[in-house]
Amino acid sequence: MLKIRQTNLVSGEVQVPGDKSISHRAVMFGALAEGTTTIHGFLPGADCLSTISCFRRMGIEIEQNGDQVTVHGKGWFGLTEPAQHLDVGNSGTTIRLMAGILATQPFHAVMEGDESIARRPMRRVVAPLREMGAKIDGRQNGEYTPLAIRGGELTGIDYRSPVASAQVKSAILLAGLQAKGRTSVTEPHLSRDHTERMLKAFGVEVVCDGLTVTVTGGQTLTGRTIHVPGDISSAAFLIGAVMVVPGSSLVIRNVGVNPTRTGIIDAVRAMGGRIELTNERVVNEEPVADLVVTHAPLTGTVIEGELIPRLIDEIPVLAVIATQAQGRTIIRDAQELRVKETDRIATVVSELSKFGAKVTPTEDGMIIEGPTKLTGAAIDSQGDHRIGMAMAIAGLAAQGETTIANAEAINVSFPGFAALLEKIAR
Ligand code: S3P
Repeated sequence: MLKIRQTNLVSGEVQVPGDKSISHRAVMFGALAEGTTTIHGFLPGADCLSTISCFRRMGIEIEQNGDQVTVHGKGWFGLTEPAQHLDVGNSGTTIRLMAGILATQPFHAVMEGDESIARRPMRRVVAPLREMGAKIDGRQNGEYTPLAIRGGELTGIDYRSPVASAQVKSAILLAGLQAKGRTSVTEPHLSRDHTERMLKAFGVEVVCDGLTVTVTGGQTLTGRTIHVPGDISSAAFLIGAVMVVPGSSLVIRNVGVNPTRTGIIDAVRAMGGRIELTNERVVNEEPVADLVVTHAPLTGTVIEGELIPRLIDEIPVLAVIATQAQGRTIIRDAQELRVKETDRIATVVSELSKFGAKVTPTEDGMIIEGPTKLTGAAIDSQGDHRIGMAMAIAGLAAQGETTIANAEAINVSFPGFAALLEKIAR
């Protein structure tokens, strides 16, 4: 149970934990590479620890101490058949990217996770991997976990993905690295491109052309050092804290600002909030900057189209910010929210309404009317880390006390969240 009280001011200079997407990939690619990979700034959240435990079960030696990780890669075919099921916990990225990797392996493996994972759609990766030649089964013809995979010889495909999903794109590209011929993925909008960037850093040839990414089979990865930047999806909650508490400002150091992830910055700026990027640099092919975030009066906005995949994980906190903006905020084209850790259209609406916010669900998004005075409430994260954190931010602006039940879910992506909030909100 997390308790939050209304605050008068958010200020300070902070860092957020490492990027979740980049941390997963660094462990996976390190495990598949020849030689040692050293990771600095790894996110020791539950999701990325699930990835580590899965690769340990396939015979890869991994040392992890806080945000320092050493992966002793044995090459692409150095994995061994796991004697037990691979437990992915709450992590969609782990199960979907590993499906692509396991599709290439000459053995049998079964992946399963928690109750949330058991409800999430898997056929989006299973169908194209079957098309490439992998044998995969799961409940409801491969739609749901457990997923049993027997990999082997694959053939490259040109895949037109119906969804802008980095997990789908990455699974197919990873399988493509050991498939016969070329494999390409074309998306309706560009999703996060960390796989493409990091594969290049590991010495793989990847061709990016607009919405299409192509790899050729038979490539090897070489172990290296990876510095993981802070997660902009975690920074988003702190940006939210500044935006809902008048007079606030915050410096957030060392944040990944990959253009496929910075939709939150664009949306907050469109609403009138001030976010400046300073000390911009590139680390391991990934753009990084310090964010200077300053409160300003906000107005409602429309969030839709190609912007959606660039801020998909930030919509819960954007909804919270929108409650304090003048006028109407419309979020549409975001039906993917329905298949995240929870149905985030339903959970945002149910929890945010408890504060007295005016938020209406739609088929593919929601409409928020502001500004509203929020009142402290008894919230349930419903086991979803981002719902827990978004509602904690609402609690900073809500009169009185807010309690968040099932707050331990926050450890999935942001260990230390409550302590950090305490440091910046007084
Ligand atoms: C992720 C991709 C996104 C995102 C998730 C992490 C990744 O999911 O929501 O938190 O690391 O590739 P989708 O691929 O389902 O859009």
